[in-house]
Amino acid sequence: MTDLEVQAFNLKDEGRIYLDHNATTPVAREIALHLPKWLNAWGNPSSIHQAGRGPKALLREARQSIAKLIGASPLEVVFTSGGSEANTTVLASFFLDPARALMKKVLIVSAVEHPSLLKTADWLSSVFGVEVRRVPVSRQGELDRNAYTRSLGDAGPGSAFLVSIMAANNETGHLFPVKELCAEAHERGAFFHTDAVQTLGKIPVDLSAWGVDFASFAGHKFYALKGVGILFVRRGVSLKPLIHGGNQERRRRAGTENTLAIASLGFMAGHRSQILAQAERVTQLRDRMERDICAQIPHVQIIGGSALRLGSTSSVLIPGVDGESLLMSLDMEGVSCSTGAACSAGSPEPSPVLLAMGYSRAEAQCSLRIGLGWGTTEDEVNRFLDILVRTVVRLRQFHRSEIASASLPVPVGGPSCP
Ligand SMILES: Cc1ncc(COP(=O)(O)O)c(C=O)c1O
Repeated sequence: MTDLEVQAFNLKDEGRIYLDHNATTPVAREIALHLPKWLNAWGNPSSIHQAGRGPKALLREARQSIAKLIGASPLEVVFTSGGSEANTTVLASFFLDPARALMKKVLIVSAVEHPSLLKTADWLSSVFGVEVRRVPVSRQGELDRNAYTRSLGDAGPGSAFLVSIMAANNETGHLFPVKELCAEAHERGAFFHTDAVQTLGKIPVDLSAWGVDFASFAGHKFYALKGVGILFVRRGVSLKPLIHGGNQERRRRAGTENTLAIASLGFMAGHRSQILAQAERVTQLRDRMERDICAQIPHVQIIGGSALRLGSTSSVLIPGVDGESLLMSLDMEGVSCSTGAACSAGSPEPSPVLLAMGYSRAEAQCSLRIGLGWGTTEDEVNRFLDILVRTVVRLRQFHRSEIASASLPVPVGGPSCP
């Protein structure tokens, strides 16, 4: 299998630098080449006549290669419209299952989950009385393990406990020890879901080794088309549908499947061998970029710099600049980054993830998230550094008083700078 070209081609043609791969990834060029073939399989995969055969085969092949990628069996793969739907389905299905109607219902989450998880938790709590326990994290992003153990304390027969802790955080890249957390939950009789949306293409995923009952993924974070997600449901674990209707996905998710997007994700899943090589290359680029940022911009802080993180993600506090102004200035200079989750773009509120990690509003408001990807080149990182340094100097001149008076400064080369 050949190496994939995953450059953000429209952006690159314009000389722009795309460093927001945690929000979404560009589509691999090869997918565009395969689209006409997949479009020929335009029938409904549920049809039993000839037009249904092509799309049915596309689904079957994609399901097999995705299952292989994530260490699952094809029957454990349920296609959804994306990560949010997969997350919502697990939580709603678990707690609204009539078999659990009379049980004590507890949902345990980390304080830094994606909004698709936390807002579903709020809904289940306010409308259906599910007790939600949020486990705090440290300033480095690490889960408070004692609090986690305590949260499971009263789990046991006759109660319905579901733990949902992400594999990798979308803003800081922090990696949670899913295998250990899952083993502890299982010992207490609780079920375990992990939001693994940020992992595909960045770290090897082996759900059979992790031991989880449920896991969520999204195609658009892995160079495939948008509009497809995966919900892994371990064999023997029941999942009631959130979307009712037809019998698709073995009655676990009704609705005609998005065959094109699913085929594109299946195609990407076939490039498993590239993941480790790319992860290593991207990590080296990211580490060098962070060293240069720390050396060239005074007072910066790498969030979670000493914790286990995705090698592609860098979350940086740059005191003395406002994150939104920095983002807009970078955009005008041809660089696409982010100040937090893409879904909170346009909101002046500081990142809830950073607040949950114990950063102040002022600190969280001067954060920048840099997400590298398979198409990121050394030259782009160099150009980005030049632009970033220049932009920070200019913006700090406007905000000199802030940096002088703020309680933010961390010495250059301090503990958070690798
Ligand atoms: C960790 C995480 N979970 C869930 C989602 C939601 O996925 P989708 O946009 O496919 O609904 C995202 C998207 O940013 C994410 O980063």
